[in-house]
Amino acid sequence: MWILGIDTSCDDTGVGLVRDGEVVVNLVAGQVALHEAYGGVVPELASREHLKVLRPLAERALAEAGIGPKDLSLVAATRGPGLIGALLVGYTFAKGLAWALGRPFYAVHHLEAHIAAAWPEGLEPPFLALVASGGHTHLFEVRALGRYRLLGATRDDAAGEAFDKVARLLGLGFPGGPEIERLAEGAEEAVPFPVPLRGQEGYEFSFSGLKTKALHLVERGLPGPALARGFQEAAIAHLAEVVLRAARDTGHRVLLVAGGVAANRALQGRFREAGLEVHFPPKGLSQDNGAMVALAAWRRHRAGFPPSPLSLGATPYWPL
Ligand code: KG4
Ligand code: ZN
Repeated sequence: MWILGIDTSCDDTGVGLVRDGEVVVNLVAGQVALHEAYGGVVPELASREHLKVLRPLAERALAEAGIGPKDLSLVAATRGPGLIGALLVGYTFAKGLAWALGRPFYAVHHLEAHIAAAWPEGLEPPFLALVASGGHTHLFEVRALGRYRLLGATRDDAAGEAFDKVARLLGLGFPGGPEIERLAEGAEEAVPFPVPLRGQEGYEFSFSGLKTKALHLVERGLPGPALARGFQEAAIAHLAEVVLRAARDTGHRVLLVAGGVAANRALQGRFREAGLEVHFPPKGLSQDNGAMVALAAWRRHRAGFPPSPLSLGATPYWPL
């Protein structure tokens, strides 16, 4: 069974093909250069670029898999949350394709897709899932597919957003996460950063203090590598402290870490030594992509969830 999954929630055009739960093709067209001059994603430019690249990317994905549109059994796309104009491009494309082919369509929640990317075959809920990306820092208790309890989220910046902003302060490129990681790996020492919300109860996150601290240190002329390493260590320590407290309080021993930030090797190392069973997405599936959308649809279909009506619209705000 072939499933086509599409994600155009922000500035990446993602097209993935999954066959019987296995990722076969996963193509992502980024837009970094397009938004560079503006210091952030310009929604209208993002939508127009999705419109331009989506169809050729989908055709390339099918060609790489050696199949045609008629071989698809299901079509899926991210319905939200995200930039509405951007979402509409992929979502409407997928609905149109499903309708034209006479195949079921699945509207997918972006965060469920991130979780699906890290969810190994055979692992049964309940477990904890941290989604840390440029737009989200959300800790869920996954009770079943489609049944999530939000334990905590960020009060201010998302984790990935903090990496991006600190990278910008250091004059590094976008996305900032991999740049900070590279700089931190070459650092001989770390400038100490206070770990946010240390000693507090609850499962909320906060990253804006780290960003402000980084700004002050940059103004004082401290060296970039040591600063990057100090920031990264504090950000990871914060994520780990909150998540491990939740694991302790709830008794869960299994954790999924998903979203763009989950690609960070220091973060993976920190969580792996935490004494829990931890799962990360395979390479290429942490950041926004289409395969994770297809994986979520595959799980939904297999679990007997009905397809989505084609009358259902995309939505920028949608709690999981
Ligand atoms: O999941 P994603 O592709 O898009 C959103 O849904 O936001 O996440 C992108 C975010 C960016 O903020 C990026 O800097 C961050 O993930 N990121 C990383 C790393 N790779 C990507 N953060 C830390 N370390 C990394 N290696
Ligand atoms: Zn995402």
